[in-house]
Amino acid sequence: MEKFIVKGEVQLCGNVRISGAKNATLPIMAATLLCSGISVIHDVPYLRDIQAMQDILILLGAKIRRQGHTMLIDTSNVSKVEIPEHLMREMRASVFLMGPLLGRFRKVRLSYPGGCAIGPRPINLHIKALEKIGAIVDESFGFIDAEAKELTGGEINFDFPSVGATENAMMAAALAKGTTIIRNAAREPEIADLQAILNKMGARINGAGTDTIRVDGVARLVPAEHTVMFDRIEAGTFLTAGVMTRGDIVVENVVPEYLFSITDKLQDIGAKIITGKDYIRIKAGELRGVDIKTLPYPGFPTDLQAPMLSLVTIAKGTSIITETIFENRFKHVDELTRMGAKIKVEGRTAIIRGVEKLTGAIVAAPDLRAGSALVLAALAAEGTSEIEQVYHIERGYENIDKKMQALGANIVKL
Ligand code: EPU
Repeated sequence: MEKFIVKGEVQLCGNVRISGAKNATLPIMAATLLCSGISVIHDVPYLRDIQAMQDILILLGAKIRRQGHTMLIDTSNVSKVEIPEHLMREMRASVFLMGPLLGRFRKVRLSYPGGCAIGPRPINLHIKALEKIGAIVDESFGFIDAEAKELTGGEINFDFPSVGATENAMMAAALAKGTTIIRNAAREPEIADLQAILNKMGARINGAGTDTIRVDGVARLVPAEHTVMFDRIEAGTFLTAGVMTRGDIVVENVVPEYLFSITDKLQDIGAKIITGKDYIRIKAGELRGVDIKTLPYPGFPTDLQAPMLSLVTIAKGTSIITETIFENRFKHVDELTRMGAKIKVEGRTAIIRGVEKLTGAIVAAPDLRAGSALVLAALAAEGTSEIEQVYHIERGYENIDKKMQALGANIVKL
């Protein structure tokens, strides 16, 4: 198993280009199933989760070719509508295939995705949304069978603005008869990116990025070409790394507006920020503790809670971090404690008392974002750290070691 060896206390300096977003690419790959033909997607990152989605699409009958960061997906021969259990287990995002398969073939069968490292991941909201537009869903023996003789527009009111359920609803409704209104929709920029490609495919969707989305169904869709938006979470992770190592870095290829909740907090912590049209430069100042609560967009993203918690372990004073989105997202705490952090967890809240510095240790990445938090901690810590279970981190960060090296970090993969 691969691990990172990190020698800490090096200030990160320089420019880093942020990759295309994992969480925009996955639904976009699924969306290509809505039509027959070759779609061309640019800026697709090389990540384990993307590979897993690629494997599923191939199994369903798609042909996929990669040319650098461009992916060509030919869906002409897709005929299967069943996703095998072992692939569902591999990646929860395979639930995104429900909407497109139902939209195009009016039928889909998948196994229940179950829980995952960061907590229970129910799909009741996905199912309810699809039922509202005419799907008949049967859940038995761990499988979900959804069918629709006809999909018809409907009113979907989400109890909670689920990102995946909003995306699934948009994709299925794109090929439904009539108009669908999705209320209390998730507002993440990745949803607007999905709307952009769907509309290039011939869909008629408005409102993504707000809490009400209107989908006027069309009879058929055609392939499209699209460049995936930048990865907000990767950008936030690098910005946090810049501050944590007392460095001076520029993240490029970003839309600063989408990162407000993060840059705002980093400024509260003591960072100095200069914003350009498509870049953010960050420099560390005197670090002080802050309070953070994770929320759906435009609130502070749950996916950056772990890196930010890592940062405040060395900020002066006490910080309080509350995780409201996922139940089990404090797995980095035990590992950070090994590195000298002072953290107490009470339910969904972590109370962090800042220490002067962290010290290197042998730790293991418990999940993707918790893993990136450990990379940051190791970069700032005194001495050498070993981070095991790097495969978790590689699910969502493209070449994190090489990108950090280019900024001066002393990190190698063994
Ligand atoms: N939820 C339900 N029922 C549902 C769906 C969701 O109760 O049917 C609950 C979840 O249990 C969770 C909350 O709603 O407590 C948020 O879940 P959401 O559906 O919004 O998340 P998701 O679509 O499963 C995406 C990202 C996650 C990110 C969340 C929140 C992708 C592929 N995944 O997941 O990314 O944390 O939105 O922003 O887009 C990651 O990249 O590390 C990651 C976990």
